[in-house]
Amino acid sequence: MNDRSSAPCRVLFVCLGNICRSPAAEGVMLSLVREAGLEDAVEVDSAGTGAWHIGERADSRMRSAAEARGLTLSSRARQLAIEDFERFDLILGMDHDNLRNIRTAAPAGTEPRAETRLLSSFLDASWPEDVPDPYYGGAEGFERVLDMLEAACPAVLDELVSG
Ligand code: 4NP
Repeated sequence: MNDRSSAPCRVLFVCLGNICRSPAAEGVMLSLVREAGLEDAVEVDSAGTGAWHIGERADSRMRSAAEARGLTLSSRARQLAIEDFERFDLILGMDHDNLRNIRTAAPAGTEPRAETRLLSSFLDASWPEDVPDPYYGGAEGFERVLDMLEAACPAVLDELVSG
């Protein structure tokens, strides 16, 4: 994935608001990176395609659900930026809408460094293709998001470090 062996691999998780799904993905991934002692080799970030929540902490329901699994979500929401397509190796959309919006935001006319994919491309077919947006639903939606992220992120890390 990264042909510059001394440079870190960089992965960016993207959802709509950057307050529920993608900050949770960032938290799950950071935890795996730390457990593996790969902090110098892998950089993790998240962003939203929308601008409504810029500067906000993750949704309190998402933070509580994550905390119960030992994950502290400390990110602040930001919007996906054109520079992200050159900074990151892998940009993972949480659902098909996100992926379409990511690809629309990509620089025109050049092949960007970043590969853009669905998070669920790292899951088997027993999982849905979209990480469901939990924002307008109940507590079980946040658990479902975390279940999907915890299933997918080990494979994301494997791909990043094995190239
Ligand atoms: P996220 O969830 O995309 O997983 O951060 C949402 C957060 C906020 C809104 C929608 C989805 N919103 O409409 O404000």
